[in-house]
Amino acid sequence: MDASVRPCGGVFMTTLGFDELLTTARGVAAESVLVVTGAGISLASGIPTFRGTDPGAVWANEVTQKGTRAYFKLFPHESWKMYLQRLELARKAKPNAAHAALVDWERWQTGQGGGFTVVTQNVDSLHEQAGSQALVKVHGSLQLARCSARGCELGPPTGTIPLETLDFSAFHASPSAETVPRCPSCRSRVRPHILWFDEYYSEHLGYEIERVYDLARQGRLVVFIGTSFSVGVTESIRAFALKRRTPMFSIDPSGVAPPQGIQAVTGRAEELLPELVRSLRG
Ligand code: APR
Repeated sequence: MDASVRPCGGVFMTTLGFDELLTTARGVAAESVLVVTGAGISLASGIPTFRGTDPGAVWANEVTQKGTRAYFKLFPHESWKMYLQRLELARKAKPNAAHAALVDWERWQTGQGGGFTVVTQNVDSLHEQAGSQALVKVHGSLQLARCSARGCELGPPTGTIPLETLDFSAFHASPSAETVPRCPSCRSRVRPHILWFDEYYSEHLGYEIERVYDLARQGRLVVFIGTSFSVGVTESIRAFALKRRTPMFSIDPSGVAPPQGIQAVTGRAEELLPELVRSLRG
């Protein structure tokens, strides 16, 4: 069967761009592939996107105002309430077929002597749970906190605190600025280890932004999955890849044209990725 013709509810559909992606992926089996994921890859696991058309998309909920250091400074308990709710949702979620296919692709690619890295903008842990090995969490993680004080060993540029080591019982009983857990080292309030809208990638080495730039320079294929290209990291990767004429693809069902230089592969990640990897493994 032509790889671009997929059975879809009994109807055969053509997926534009799929064949080109497959051919390119085959051609770079012994080289470096960079995959950049966004919220769309986790939608089939029940985690809403930010700007997608899914009913739970959180963009409307003042996320640019609340997802900030300024908001945390004013209302640390409200900020934590928001992230603990997201953590609850993420904890219930299981990796879907797209996460699993990326693990299979990584195994296949490294088995051919190539390199394969996932850079995710997502703060859930679904790539880790699925088994991805080379992974950069460029926007941080819901599973980690850090000290909010600069200069503390558990704060930037390198410090993090596993969330499960913090005691949130007083906070859960009565959420307030006073009951936000304190840093075990300096007693300042802890904050989520998440990149906020009023912060820079360079603020914490855990975001590994320099590694991301290196991967973008070295990659012979860049595949964006489930992202709306709305924040800095996707634009930086695109700029590096454009300079080197690296082929770039974007898997997304929206039909919205990706930025210049990136070829659209229109469809859902959880359907297209397993098919791509099946075809690659032949
Ligand atoms: N498969 C692939 N893509 C999908 C799917 C699916 N099944 N369903 C929806 N999408 C697409 C949407 O069409 C949309 O283009 O996923 C994209 C999600 O875009 P956003 O919600 O903007 O998510 P993302 O690009 O990851 O956001 C980037 O912005 O708000 C900040 O820090 C936050 O990491 C986030 C960043």
